[in-house]
Amino acid sequence: MRILTGIQASGKPHLGNILGAIIPAIELSKQVGNDSFLFIADLHTLTSLKDGESIRNNTLSVAAAWLAFGFDTEKNYFYRQSKLAPYHTELMWYLNCFTPFPMLANAHSFKDKAEKLSDVNAGLFTYPVLQAADIVLYDAQIIPVGKDQRQHIEMTRDIANSVNKKYNKDIFVLPEAKINEEVMTIPGVDGAKMSKSLNNYIDIFLPENELLKQIKKIVTDTTALEDPKDPDQDITYKLYQLMASKSEIAEMRANYLAGGYGYGHAKQALFNLILQYFKEVREKFDFYMSHPELIEEKLQIGEKKVKPIAEATIARIRAEFKF
Ligand code: ADP
Ligand code: TRP
Repeated sequence: MRILTGIQASGKPHLGNILGAIIPAIELSKQVGNDSFLFIADLHTLTSLKDGESIRNNTLSVAAAWLAFGFDTEKNYFYRQSKLAPYHTELMWYLNCFTPFPMLANAHSFKDKAEKLSDVNAGLFTYPVLQAADIVLYDAQIIPVGKDQRQHIEMTRDIANSVNKKYNKDIFVLPEAKINEEVMTIPGVDGAKMSKSLNNYIDIFLPENELLKQIKKIVTDTTALEDPKDPDQDITYKLYQLMASKSEIAEMRANYLAGGYGYGHAKQALFNLILQYFKEVREKFDFYMSHPELIEEKLQIGEKKVKPIAEATIARIRAEFKF
């Protein structure tokens, strides 16, 4: 199977991105017979971020995170969308001409962003068409994404299908979204969905003292230390459960129910668990961040490897237009 997913260079990956997207996609890439295309969607990033220095730093930290989690760039494909911009944007133009205007006007993500952002640019509007180009350019079959992206993948299928129908040929592969329902919503320190934009995230790559500070911000109720507590209502316990072993979870649960165990104790346990669970990953992340030239090298190799695939797709569609 050909797996493909893109990640915007909009910030450093947080615990929600890691448990919800990075780890599941790495697992998928390790299955025999799968080829994974993993790219940094830096052209999409421009819809919300215009500063080159920030885009570059975010690109490095996103790439370092994937490498730290063991993405095998030799077996797979690892690249920046901007380095293949001629293919992505050319294909986007062709797809634009097969995209009904109301499909874009009714897209949930566009409507959400148009309400929230002050910069409602045309890039935001045509964002799903660039995403469709990203996907069909490499004949991708499976697209692991969060629930918020479901509609974008459906739009990709619709657009690709209208091209295939028009020329009565399988020019493009119709992709399918793979959405992991269970780990869909990792809570942030305030209990809402963990998100960069809500500033409620836990950054597992921080130095220990700063990480502990973030964990201490987790909101709790006012139950006294000596009283029993309901673990199922508590954010620290919810986060702990996502990474701890069965016996560790059972032990913490018993502590909550028994009383005499404070939220501060639970937070310290969560902190220790994160340090232990991500020990190697934290080291590797720091290593790559202090060796950006290694990241650059791996990306450049990937960019060379994907180019002929992109060229072949462009040639296929151009042939239909007699271009
Ligand atoms: P953010 O909301 O922080 O801006 P993105 O929208 O860039 O995150 O999401 C990148 C990936 O991480 C997507 O696949 C998304 O589904 C996943 N993701 C983001 N936040 C969470 C979360 N709180 N729980 C689970 N998965 C998440
Ligand atoms: N829109 C996706 C997000 O914000 C990022 C993305 C761009 C993407 N192109 C893609 C995801 C192609 C999957 C496939 O998360």
